[in-house]
Amino acid sequence: MISQKSVKEILETAKIQDIVEEFVNLKRAGVNLKGCCPFHNEKTPSFVVSPAKNIFKCFGCGKGGSPVQFLMEHETLSFPEALRYLAKKYNIELEETETTQEHIEARQLQDSLYLVNQFALEFYQEQLFQTDIGKSVGLSYFKQRGFREETIKKFGLGFAPNTKDKLTSTAINKGYNIDLLRKLALTTKYDSDFFRNRVIFTIHNMTGKVIAFAGRILDKNAKGPKYINSPETEVYHKSKVLYGIYFAKQQIRKKDECILVEGYTDTISLHQAGIENVVASSGTSLTIGQINLIKRYTPNIKILYDGDAAGIKAALRGLDLVLEQDMNVKVVLLPDGEDPDSYLQKVGSTAFSEYIDKEAKDFILFKTNLLLEDAANDPIKKVKVTQEIINSIARIPDPLKRAVFIQKCSQLTEIEENVLVESVNKQVVLLVRKRREEYKREQRQKERTARQNNAQTNNSGNFPTNAPPPSADPSFPDAPPPEGGELPPEELGVQPNIAATGAEIQERDIIRILINLGHNIYDKEDNLSVAEYLLANIEDVLDDFENKEYEAIAKHYAEQLLQNHKPNLHYFLNHSNQSFSQIALDLSASPYEYSPNWEEMHKVLLQTQKMPELNFIKDSEDALLRFKLRKIEKMMATNLQKGKTAQDEGDFDKTMVHLKIQAKLKAMHSEISTQLGTVVLKYDK
Ligand code: CTP
Ligand code: MN
Repeated sequence: MISQKSVKEILETAKIQDIVEEFVNLKRAGVNLKGCCPFHNEKTPSFVVSPAKNIFKCFGCGKGGSPVQFLMEHETLSFPEALRYLAKKYNIELEETETTQEHIEARQLQDSLYLVNQFALEFYQEQLFQTDIGKSVGLSYFKQRGFREETIKKFGLGFAPNTKDKLTSTAINKGYNIDLLRKLALTTKYDSDFFRNRVIFTIHNMTGKVIAFAGRILDKNAKGPKYINSPETEVYHKSKVLYGIYFAKQQIRKKDECILVEGYTDTISLHQAGIENVVASSGTSLTIGQINLIKRYTPNIKILYDGDAAGIKAALRGLDLVLEQDMNVKVVLLPDGEDPDSYLQKVGSTAFSEYIDKEAKDFILFKTNLLLEDAANDPIKKVKVTQEIINSIARIPDPLKRAVFIQKCSQLTEIEENVLVESVNKQVVLLVRKRREEYKREQRQKERTARQNNAQTNNSGNFPTNAPPPSADPSFPDAPPPEGGELPPEELGVQPNIAATGAEIQERDIIRILINLGHNIYDKEDNLSVAEYLLANIEDVLDDFENKEYEAIAKHYAEQLLQNHKPNLHYFLNHSNQSFSQIALDLSASPYEYSPNWEEMHKVLLQTQKMPELNFIKDSEDALLRFKLRKIEKMMATNLQKGKTAQDEGDFDKTMVHLKIQAKLKAMHSEISTQLGTVVLKYDK
């Protein structure tokens, strides 16, 4: 950890204009400085820096804060990372209060690994630009591919000569440690160079440090793979790296979109043509770690596929993972035989940009079309295809987005919308259940590990070595934010949204459960159905619904039960009474309403049971309690009014009766409230 003393020194030294000026063109404006905001797209400057207050503020998008906050936001650094950045800039010696020797050593090792990689980058560049063979073979290759010299330098392209150990021996002569070279796999266990006779691509991490390399073969006829890549090392974790992210991150944020390509050369080509919000997955399918990197900057991702991608359908399946992360995914299919690099070189950047804008299709619709084409007139295949599409839609966490896709897919597949709704909802439930189970399993695993660690700690008295070191100051967390899969169960799955207002909400809840779940068994022993349970409990207020349509349904249901008939959703959907079927439809899609008003939807977060389908018993009980609570509140209001009137009339006895009734109602109210927990308060807003 960075000591408090150092933190203070850094915060006092850092000047807002110094920091911002590195990234933004600023002009004087009175006592302040002004420029175009780096956090949103604008043509007239509304981004102001105040040296006197040592803050920045954008009057366009509202972002503002201290030098540290600027760095954290702009460079996506953690607090300690921003501090380190500033310490380096102002030559402030960092006092680290690291507690364990291991931690210090680990950091030192990391730093030296980066240094060795930096050396290697410089070596490969020198070979490219300064040696005859490098120039004639490597540099001419890059130039022939259309890369300009500034691009070659910016991306750290280089050349590895066809010698046994030129890199290794140069490094050792300069005093670099052979163990580090081996750790980075720059040197093989036979002490020869890992990359030989290849052009080199440098892989940077988020903050621009060199973490790995890739070497491309030059001779088409030579044996061996087209690319060889650094293996996983202590500083290179493939699943968490995107090629080009360091150069792309600002533009990704600005354009609020990330373009994803497959190859190194595609990335570089697009950058060079001014399309800078582009990164590469390096030939593999996206991982959660990579998606999370993108998500730090934008939820919008546009994937460019080669025109002849044989495995395009398999690739599409992999994209469900991206949907699950609540990203908006568009795909672009390039013309036959082209990859982004070749197509760009062919048509030029203007036509290229136009093409990818015009051809971008929403992933789910793209997939639907593609699969349907395949299924053509084969009904069995079509069923399969539909199921696949349903599976994809079900992964979208946002119910509103799901509803939109269902509608569109219904048109494409010519399958009725409510049939799709039902299948998607079923799938959602299954997915949520699966995730909950996974979550529980993970938790159990964590607890087990924690217990084991505790046992170890108790035995040795030392801090466990496989756990992170303790934070000296919890307000300065060094650890990265948790990545996917760590959310508590409540946050998994769909988002609740209930926009109805007034007292009807509880009534509707009851009706929703009746219609959707009424036929389920509430109590096995008594063979009691959910509907019987609910209706028996509200019998005394059946005439007292505020919404008379709901009341009609409840009564109708009760009558059906008397005739030994158990209605279900299907029964109500097809009911000749229009009001019945309409209400059934409204309440069938999901327990949540699809409000056209986005913002409202996210503001009105009612913390009810999230997935009633998973637990309809608890859901019915809660709904019932809420329903009763409403009724009691109504009775309390009426009773109070009556008591007041009695008092005004000077009728003491009558007043006392009403007071007693009031006390009783109040007791009932608080009992039910307790049973319901906090839910009630939220309902009452
Ligand atoms: N790739 C790899 N190893 C291979 C082949 C491919 O790691 N043997 C990865 C590389 O990241 C490569 C990407 O997959 O950039 C896409 O492969 P490909 O389209 O074959 O390469 P390009 O990048 O298009 O290279 P070039 O244009 O030079 O053919
Ligand atoms: Mn290519």
